[in-house]
Amino acid sequence: MIVLDEITKIYDKEPVFKNLSLRVDRGDMAFITGPSGAGKTTLLKLIYGAERPDKGEIIVGEWHVTKLKQKKIPLLRQEIGIVFQDFRLLPNKTVFDNVALALTAHKLSPAAIRETVNNVLRDIILLHRKNSYPLNLSGGEQQRVVIARAMVAKPKIILADEPTGNMDRENANTIMGLFKDINAKGTTVMIVTHNEELYQGTGHRVFHINNKIVEREFAG
Ligand SMILES: Nc1ncnc2c1ncn2[C@@H]1O[C@H](COP(=O)(O)OP(=O)(O)O)[C@@H](O)[C@H]1O
Ligand SMILES: [Mg+2]
Repeated sequence: MIVLDEITKIYDKEPVFKNLSLRVDRGDMAFITGPSGAGKTTLLKLIYGAERPDKGEIIVGEWHVTKLKQKKIPLLRQEIGIVFQDFRLLPNKTVFDNVALALTAHKLSPAAIRETVNNVLRDIILLHRKNSYPLNLSGGEQQRVVIARAMVAKPKIILADEPTGNMDRENANTIMGLFKDINAKGTTVMIVTHNEELYQGTGHRVFHINNKIVEREFAG
């Protein structure tokens, strides 16, 4: 469950949004849309505790994020897989190691790590690139590594910021299939996107951010 209650976030004396409320129930898939600069990335940062709101309350699962001490933020992060818009892959680590790093806190044996990472790389159709370095991959391939890294620890929540931004339709469909599978297994999924095709006709909830308000609609 993700709840934002009357959230105001101010940068440089200007509110990005004011009194914004939304709720995504546990196990749901929901989409966030809106023009560039509307605050979509900021909204995700508030949910995973990288930014604090100026007003309002945020609840993520059992966590009162707005009241969480800074040193507890890593515990919140263990429950959230994040697909960053700017990737944040480590250039001096292989694809395999970039994904395996997301399992560090999970105390698995080396054999279990190998199996888990290989499985997710197979799902994302990148097993053949496991020993490559990120900068030798195409943009779409790098994006798939970021998605693999977000999924590998089977988090309770996945937040994805424009996860199909650099992909053709076929790759985008493959990625959406993976989000659907992980959602079907109980993970709450929240996807920021400009691509209407991802949610049209799915029946999932869409939150549109524009002019500091949120509309709710069902994409049926
Ligand atoms: N760290 C920051 N400091 C100051 N302004 C910021 C910061 N991050 C974002 N902004 C501003 O907040 C607004 C929303 O940004 P962002 O959440 O990245 O929008 P979106 O993801 O919808 O394109 C923009 O006007 C942006 O310039
Ligand atoms: Mg953004």
